[in-house]
Amino acid sequence: MKISLGADHGAFELKEAIKKHLEKKGIEYTDHGCYSKESVDYPKYAYKAAKDVADGNCDFGIICCTTGLGVSMAANKVKGVRAAVCTSNHLAEMTRRHNNANVICMGQAVVTPEQACEMVDIFLSTEFEGGRHQRRVSQLTDIENGCIEV
Ligand code: RB5
Repeated sequence: MKISLGADHGAFELKEAIKKHLEKKGIEYTDHGCYSKESVDYPKYAYKAAKDVADGNCDFGIICCTTGLGVSMAANKVKGVRAAVCTSNHLAEMTRRHNNANVICMGQAVVTPEQACEMVDIFLSTEFEGGRHQRRVSQLTDIENGCIEV
């Protein structure tokens, strides 16, 4: 399994904590930055990390900012990406089971590093349920392609 990581300055420390956690678990990752606490623009970092998932280079993305909100908006503009802001273990589990999310977004001002790492573990180990949820996830793709029938 390979993870695509990204964050802006507002979550630089959270990303570093998640990196350590992944290393401990022997999970490979690509760190798309940022690489310091110097102020940067979150859309660019979210885009780079999300694109690596959409292109099939990484299985999942973990993308963070101060709130998790901005990076999720940016990531969801990338075709093929289903990014979910998660603030609890329950959300991390459900967005895999029902939405087949391939990117988890979190906020450094919202969750502790310990909570974030726990959510990462749940997100990475929970399977998509498929079935009726596959139909709905396919409809998300239809929206993306401008061809949903309503
Ligand atoms: C940066 O100040 C902050 O706006 C950013 O980290 C993020 O929370 C945006 O949604």
